[in-house]
Amino acid sequence: METAFGWKLSLPIITAPMFIVSGGDLVIEAVRSGFVGTFPSLNLRTTDELRRRLDEIREALADRPPESAVYGVNLVAHHSNPRLKADLEAVVAAKVPLVITSLGAVPEIAQAVQGYGGRILHDVINRRHAEKAAEAGVDGLILVSAGAGGHAGILNPFAFIAEVRRFFAGPLVMAGALSTGADIAAALAAGADFAYMGTRFIATREANAKEGYREMLVASGTDDIVYTSAVSGVAGNFLAPSLRQAGIDPGGLARTDRDAVKLELDPNTRKWRDLWSAGQGVAAITDSPSMAELAERLKSEFNAARQRLSVL
Ligand SMILES: Cc1cc2nc3c(=O)[nH]c(=O)nc-3n(C[C@H](O)[C@H](O)[C@H](O)COP(=O)(O)O)c2cc1C
Repeated sequence: METAFGWKLSLPIITAPMFIVSGGDLVIEAVRSGFVGTFPSLNLRTTDELRRRLDEIREALADRPPESAVYGVNLVAHHSNPRLKADLEAVVAAKVPLVITSLGAVPEIAQAVQGYGGRILHDVINRRHAEKAAEAGVDGLILVSAGAGGHAGILNPFAFIAEVRRFFAGPLVMAGALSTGADIAAALAAGADFAYMGTRFIATREANAKEGYREMLVASGTDDIVYTSAVSGVAGNFLAPSLRQAGIDPGGLARTDRDAVKLELDPNTRKWRDLWSAGQGVAAITDSPSMAELAERLKSEFNAARQRLSVL
């Protein structure tokens, strides 16, 4: 299908950038399955490694027309990221089709990306950030709503879309606990142009995730997700069993006032690598298929949802 930005995808899915999890295989297989594949630049240890990863992706997708070979890089646009300038230069040099910025919406980054014909999306969790990003001139907004994996917001996605539509006419991406083809249909029905999906893709064979992480996703439900700022300093959703596994009692952590709870981590325990993030979308995850199998399933679920609506 033809989506916003003139892309040709099998479904309007952007596989969300995930620290550690989004390796080269996940990105390439997502694109081969007809989705947009993305990764955070910081998954590569240096800007040189980022350049090499971009070359690998481009080569792997060289047989596809540009409108069906859409991949993207997530840049943390914040002064705490010393790699921002160099990584942006690498992205511009490679003419990466999609850039996703988080934390800061910077007009100069938007202009640099649009200057070579790329698209830029910015992820936001509330109206104020959405307004700032719209002013910065980004092409579209990712509305990271309640229940999302990683750093998540607390807004209901339907309310969030309605609010942003009052002042922003460009493409919108719905994010947060979208796991099935029916969820994608719901996002489109609510007025989104794309579904942004992270957690669902951790439980695929191509994800750079330990087997125990995949198994925990399959075994977990919404009760196992704790929303806390204690792990990374910013409120996000984490798998409570992974905290317990690292000797941390998740009981007292479900709070978001910054620095309210300091985690005493064992020196061998690392955030994200050992304390695993996932959103409430775990509720719908019951297996770890290959990307290709999952893509087929999402398509049939999406079509079944459309069918259900068409007979109303
Ligand atoms: C393990 C994990 C790591 C993540 N890392 C990043 C990241 O490095 N940069 C980013 O912009 N978002 C990151 N996210 C958030 C996702 O890009 C996306 O917003 C989220 O996964 C969407 O919600 P869902 O997981 O419910 O589908 C991460 C999410 C997860 C689950």
